[in-house]
Amino acid sequence: MLKTIGVKSMDELIDQTVPKNIRLEKPLDLGPGLSERQYYRKIHDLAQKNKVFNTYIGMGYYDVITPAVILRNVFENPVWYTSYTPYQAEISQGRLEALLNYQTMVCDFTGMELANASLLDEATAAAEAMIMMFSLRSRDQKKNGANILFVDEKIWPQTLDVILTRSEPLGIEVKVDNYKNFGFNDKVFGVIVQYPNSEGNIEDYSALVETAHKNECKVAVAADLLSLALLVPPGEWGADICFGSSQRFGVPMGYGGPHAAFFATKDEYKRSMPGRIIGVSKDANGNRALRMALQTREQHIKREKATSNICTAQALLATMAGFYAVYHGPRGIYSIAARIYSIANLLSEEIEKLGYKQQNKFFFDTVRFSLPRHVKREDIEWLSLELKMNFRYFDNGEVGLSIDETTNVEDINWIVEVFAKAANKPVPTFSDYPEECLINEKFSRKSEYLQLDVFNRYRSETEMMRYIKKLENRDISLTHSMISLGSCTMKLNAATEMLPLSWIEFSGIHPYVPKNQAMGYQIMMEELKSDLAQITGFADVSLMPNSGAAGEYAGLMVIMAYHKSRGDEHRKVCLIPSSAHGTNPASAAMAGMEVVVTPCDERGNIDVEALKQKAEEHKDDLACLMITYPSTHGVFEASVTEVCKIIHQFGGQVYMDGANMNAQVGLTSPGNIGADICHLNLHKTFAIPHGGGGPGVGPIACKAHLVEFLPSHSVMNNGHVGIHAVSAAPWGSASVLPITYGYIKMLGGDGLRKATEVAILNANYIAHHLKDNYGILYTGENGRVAHEMILEARHLKQASGITETDISKRLMDYGFHAPTLSFPVHGTLMVEPTESESLQELDRFIETMNSIFNEIKEVETGVADKDDNVLKNAPHTQFMCVDDEWNHSYARTKAAYPLEWIRENKFWPYVTRIDDAYGDRNLVCTCAPVEDYK
Ligand SMILES: Cc1ncc(COP(=O)(O)O)c(C=O)c1O
Repeated sequence: MLKTIGVKSMDELIDQTVPKNIRLEKPLDLGPGLSERQYYRKIHDLAQKNKVFNTYIGMGYYDVITPAVILRNVFENPVWYTSYTPYQAEISQGRLEALLNYQTMVCDFTGMELANASLLDEATAAAEAMIMMFSLRSRDQKKNGANILFVDEKIWPQTLDVILTRSEPLGIEVKVDNYKNFGFNDKVFGVIVQYPNSEGNIEDYSALVETAHKNECKVAVAADLLSLALLVPPGEWGADICFGSSQRFGVPMGYGGPHAAFFATKDEYKRSMPGRIIGVSKDANGNRALRMALQTREQHIKREKATSNICTAQALLATMAGFYAVYHGPRGIYSIAARIYSIANLLSEEIEKLGYKQQNKFFFDTVRFSLPRHVKREDIEWLSLELKMNFRYFDNGEVGLSIDETTNVEDINWIVEVFAKAANKPVPTFSDYPEECLINEKFSRKSEYLQLDVFNRYRSETEMMRYIKKLENRDISLTHSMISLGSCTMKLNAATEMLPLSWIEFSGIHPYVPKNQAMGYQIMMEELKSDLAQITGFADVSLMPNSGAAGEYAGLMVIMAYHKSRGDEHRKVCLIPSSAHGTNPASAAMAGMEVVVTPCDERGNIDVEALKQKAEEHKDDLACLMITYPSTHGVFEASVTEVCKIIHQFGGQVYMDGANMNAQVGLTSPGNIGADICHLNLHKTFAIPHGGGGPGVGPIACKAHLVEFLPSHSVMNNGHVGIHAVSAAPWGSASVLPITYGYIKMLGGDGLRKATEVAILNANYIAHHLKDNYGILYTGENGRVAHEMILEARHLKQASGITETDISKRLMDYGFHAPTLSFPVHGTLMVEPTESESLQELDRFIETMNSIFNEIKEVETGVADKDDNVLKNAPHTQFMCVDDEWNHSYARTKAAYPLEWIRENKFWPYVTRIDDAYGDRNLVCTCAPVEDYK
């Protein structure tokens, strides 16, 4: 490969590609890579240091039983976990249907009309609800400067924490009080309450909603999704937004995440809804087809005018939660919820008999006891720890228990034993509990849910397994072929890295257990932070942000806190090059910054002169520059160090978007280049799989002067004392961190550098073979690309009418996922092969792209029809190709088997080209029966 591209050695290629002035002087000091076997032993030893107790802390995290059929066939299945966000809908119909199930399930339980396909966690969903209500203010409210949000005091502390973080930069004033004391006036725009509340009480909010609406205020309700199987859903008592966590639907606690937040609202607010929405449309043959709907709402298009920066969300976890509802169905979910209530009720009665006073009048799963005078809280604590149980301790001395799906008779006996012994009473025993016990009439749900066929069909494991498989067969993932999505780094997610995730020692830990029960996690995370600090060239790392965009936001807020600490709170201008990803300006806007766009020159590089001018112009209010490096144009710009100096000279900080770290690791680093802070996309460079649209992990790393501002947490000490929390869990999506830990440990310092070098080699190899037919839009000073490249398609469109979209759909017929389309330059394709692809696979891709080029030429030269050709009609489904009628001007074999080797491994797209506009005009975001769409 080196010879093909015209260099003698890897070193020569790297010298030609990566500017000398930014190269690391010393290799990474991360030790040699471990073998898979050695790593397995190491991570297993760490797992043993986590203690799996029965945890009744609740507070948004509950033990669950993940049905094994879902664990094995979804969570542990690379088709589900290695696929990408369904940008190419025709080859993503399986996960789109799974997410549509999820949305339908959320609408059913919440009683709302429209749900999205997940947000990052319950606390960030609360912030999204706040911002959505803020942006929905009436003209008069805006004119009046209505900026007050009421939040009931009985909301999870982590939710309030994130609301506080996110409100400040937007000028929203948060008033926390008992909801009964809210005094509405024309400055108030919204209300957030929790149902059941943070103490476990079910409150009747219907009068509040009425008053709020009379005062033109919207009401958002944080709800426990499982409780809504028994309780009147917020949609039925007038809520405008309902959000929360779907963790209880079969997703393990995992020391805090990842879990999918749900978010639902009324149809009239659909255009203000944050996150991805899956909608129903039709394909070119009129068949029902799914795809992401209303995409113009998203930050990709709206940039600094966006009201949310969500890109990666929690697709895999939403998929699992949706399957959980499919498998259990309405009766199953009802009986799980009813059993939980019944056990909580039993405990309430029995523990009261021991002299304790239960404080919750109406409750679902949580009971809260004040202690008799002679009982000490400490006694309860040590007695429960002896029996390997964690209870919740309130500041006022009360003790709480949140019951979950796993609680059984044995557990009931142990719990009661603790309370009896602490009170010096004989220990009663139980051999059973009532299966069902009715919730108070006032709160009892009458409406039905999960009535559609899909939730009533797959009751046996065999049927469920086949349903999952049926959907899986409709999706392209890394199990089929390379996914060359530029900027997304779709590399191998090695099986050895993934194995520990299913172990109960990682999955079964509640984030609020005493740290001595989670030493395996703590040791692993400390080592990981230190390794990531070294890789980035920075002083410290926060693992809290749970996506790239969340990392951007957190990093920018750290910069704002730094300026504020120096009396420079007026520094608000954020310079962003025009080539930036949409999340960059959107995150800056969310952080209260003023975005100033700086141009790129004709080579795709930052125009340094223009940047200098802008920096000087804003020298009094410059907060930072936000750059991606190598740039989203796929080039290492030599001027980057000068750019950093300019920004520093004018008092700004340099924020680096770490999306392209795969071209830096071991060769250079953000710290070495001169940046002050960066985020890393662990779900790109560091091997966490993309899950069909999430989870993501976006830790931030920074220089010493910013460490004191890294995000803290209101419940657990996560080692930082800076800004309020940016996500619900103290260490973000902790349970997927072993993947990155394993990636670093098994590659070691040299392996990490070599991975970067091979990624650069692979990209240059592809560029070499495609440059003549397509053209490479931007290259560095020596004609090299970094780890990705932009292929030109605009000249082809001009000559033949074949667009970049046609190329992307035709790739499906060859069994490939398209590269990134029209980002960062319209009409182009951005290709990133990563280091994981073999020479054979690169050659297959190159042969495919060149074969497609020849097909385009056939159209251009009139050999093929301008409209009826393999590109315009792509992708071709199996049904099209075997249909008795075939009226096209080309052969079926050309449609389906354009190259010889496709015969041995054909992937059939399930639908043909999807009509996006139709779906947006006729928005349907739940899975109604098929005949409704005809
Ligand atoms: C350059 C760049 N920045 C930021 C992001 C946002 O990351 P995330 O999707 O994890 O929020 C992406 C995602 O594709 C990206 O390519």
